[in-house]
Amino acid sequence: MQESPIGMFDSGIGGITIYKEVHQLLPNENIIYLADSKNAPYGEKSKKEIIDFSIKNTELLLNKGCKLIVVACNTASTNAVATLREKYDVPFIRVQPAIKPAALQSKTKVIGILATEGTLKSDLLWETSQKFAQGVTVVNQVGDGLVALIESGKIYSDKMTALLKKYTFPMLEKNMDQLVLGCTHYPLLRSQIQKLVGKHINILDSGEAIARQTKVILTQENLLNNSQDKSIQKFYSNKNLEILQYFINQINPSFKAEKLDF
Ligand code: DGL
Repeated sequence: MQESPIGMFDSGIGGITIYKEVHQLLPNENIIYLADSKNAPYGEKSKKEIIDFSIKNTELLLNKGCKLIVVACNTASTNAVATLREKYDVPFIRVQPAIKPAALQSKTKVIGILATEGTLKSDLLWETSQKFAQGVTVVNQVGDGLVALIESGKIYSDKMTALLKKYTFPMLEKNMDQLVLGCTHYPLLRSQIQKLVGKHINILDSGEAIARQTKVILTQENLLNNSQDKSIQKFYSNKNLEILQYFINQINPSFKAEKLDF
C-alpha cells in the first residue's frame, strides 16, 4: 500500500500548482494527476454536477490503485469532499482558501478572496470566513473567465490583463492588503497579479499548506512511501495536452502529459 500512488485531480491544469508543492515535499511518492479539462470550468456548474465530476475522477484514481486523494481544486473541495469522504474509504485532502493566514497577517483588516462562483457561494467558504476572519472585512470577488482563459493558453493576453484589473482594483480601493487566491488555477497568474496590485499586497495560496497536510496524513496512516526506487509521475488530461505539458515542463522537462478519456 505504501508504494501505491497518490491521486490528484482538478477541473484542469490549475491543480498543477498543488502538485508542484506535493512533489517537492514528497519526491518519493508516485503521483497520478488528472486534468478534467473537458469539463472545466467547474466554478460555473451546479453543486450536483461538481459532485458527479468529482466522483468520476475519484473512481478513476481508485481504479488505478491510489492510496490517498488530493482534491486539487477549490471548487470540488468546497462542494464535493464531504460526499467523497462518506462514499469512499481512502483519505481525502481538500484545498481551502488561505483565509486564516490572510486574516492574521492583515494590518488594514481588509482581505480579498478571488475564487470561482462555486467556491464563493459554498457553505464551507462562508463557515471558514466566519470562523477565521472575525473583525476583518472579507471582499469576495468571482474570477469569472480566468479559468477559461488559462485553459485555452491565453495566460498572457490583453483580455487577461483587463479581467485582472477589473477584479483586483475595486479590492484595492477597499484598502485590501492581503489577496487570497482561492482557485488552484490562479497561482499561475501570480506574477501578473503582483505587478498589477503592487508589491505591498501580500498574495496567498494554499499549495504549501496542502503539501504539509498530505505528509501529515500519510504519516498518520502509515502510508508514506519509503522505497528507494525512482518515483513515477503520471499526468493525464482528457482535452488539451499542450497546456498541461507546458506547465509540467517547468517542473521537470522529462515529465510527459498523456491523453486519457474520462
Ligand atoms: N482549479 C479550480 C479551482 O480551484 C478551477 C475551478 C473551475 O474549473 O472553475 O476552483
